[in-house]
Amino acid sequence: SKKDKVSVTFIKDNGEQITVQGKVGENLLDIVINNDVDLEGYGACEGTLACSTCHVILKQEDFDRIPDKPTDEELDMLDLAYGLTERSRLGCQIYMTKDLDGLKVRVPAGVNDARDTPI
Ligand code: FES
Repeated sequence: SKKDKVSVTFIKDNGEQITVQGKVGENLLDIVINNDVDLEGYGACEGTLACSTCHVILKQEDFDRIPDKPTDEELDMLDLAYGLTERSRLGCQIYMTKDLDGLKVRVPAGVNDARDTPI
């Protein structure tokens, strides 16, 4: 139904903004996949917390109002993310709520796939 619909805007490093629709309860990776959002290498581990390619950077106010706080596993993986900030999260761990409708996230240009770590 309409009230489950939320929109999310992904801001690419080149400034391009892509706004797509998702549903309450979906995470940002689900929304990228369902909408075929063109983000190179995004979500390589399919949300299993084994990469950091789904790294997104939030505005502070948005970071603060995400209901699900990062788990230790997410924080460990984020440590490996390219261009980590204090307002970074993994998109596969951000579940949309109605309150988050209209969320805008920045997707850094570089991605580190932790699975590529040589040793
Ligand atoms: Fe790999 Fe999110 S998709 S950690």
